[in-house]
Order: sequence, then structure tokens, then C-alpha cells
Amino acid sequence: MNTDDLAAEARRAALRSYSPYSRFRVGAVVVDSEGRRHTGSNVENAAYGSSICAEATAISGAVARGVRRIEGVAVACVDADGVDNAYPCGNCRQLMNEFGVEWVVVAAGEGSEVRRHHLSDLHPYGFSLEA
Ligand code: THU
Repeated sequence: MNTDDLAAEARRAALRSYSPYSRFRVGAVVVDSEGRRHTGSNVENAAYGSSICAEATAISGAVARGVRRIEGVAVACVDADGVDNAYPCGNCRQLMNEFGVEWVVVAAGEGSEVRRHHLSDLHPYGFSLEA
């Protein structure tokens, strides 16, 4: 899995973000267990609390297409006023936990370092109903 290639695809997804309120554009790429990719971007709302993260839209899209096992997720933000941080929020880490995500690729602004982590490092002891 080429992390730079995934980061580039996540950045392209970020350009499709609907974020007129925060202007923080985030894109995500889900790689399912068959190697297929599913993209998403954050979708905001005038009722701010109704906004949806990029990872959540990507994961929901994949699941709606029948995916039940996700290998990894790449996340990127673009033009974020120098914010060099595209780490998934806690809620998105828990969404990843549900579908067995192993790795997370994080890319902030263009040209910035691309990092790869194990979800178990970002979200240890995630909640699960499995025995
Ligand atoms: N956001 C994401 O898309 N993913 C995250 O993991 C954290 C935050 C979005 C939500 C909102 O549209 C914007 O970034 C600012 O919080």
C-alpha cells in the first residue's frame, strides 16, 4: 500500500469537502479488505452539531456498499491555515474500531510529512461487544 498515493487521494477528497462554516477541509479514503477504495469528505451544516466528519462519510459510504471489514483509512486536510494536524477525532477512531481498521495514514498540508499509525496506538481499548 503506497502511503503517498493514498495521501494524495485523501487530499483530492478534501477538495470536495462541504465546510463553509469551519473552512477546514478534510478528506478520507477507506481501503476495504478487498483493496477497494471509498472516499469521503466532511459535510457541515448550519446546525453545527449536525456536521459529519470525512472519515464518517467515507466509512458510511463503504458500509452502505456492503463492506464489513476495513483494512485502513487515510485522512488529509488541505489549506488548513497552517494547522498541521489531520488526526482523526475520537468518535472517528471508534467508528474505525468497529470495522477492524489496522492502520491509519495521516497527511496534513501539501508537502507535509505523511505518517502511518496502527489504530491500536491511536485508539487502545476501543469499545467492542465482541467477546
Ligand atoms: N473533521 C473531520 O472531518 N474529521 C475529524 O476527524 C475531525 C474534524 C471536520 C469536522 C468539521 O467539519 C471540521 O473538521 C472542523 O472541525
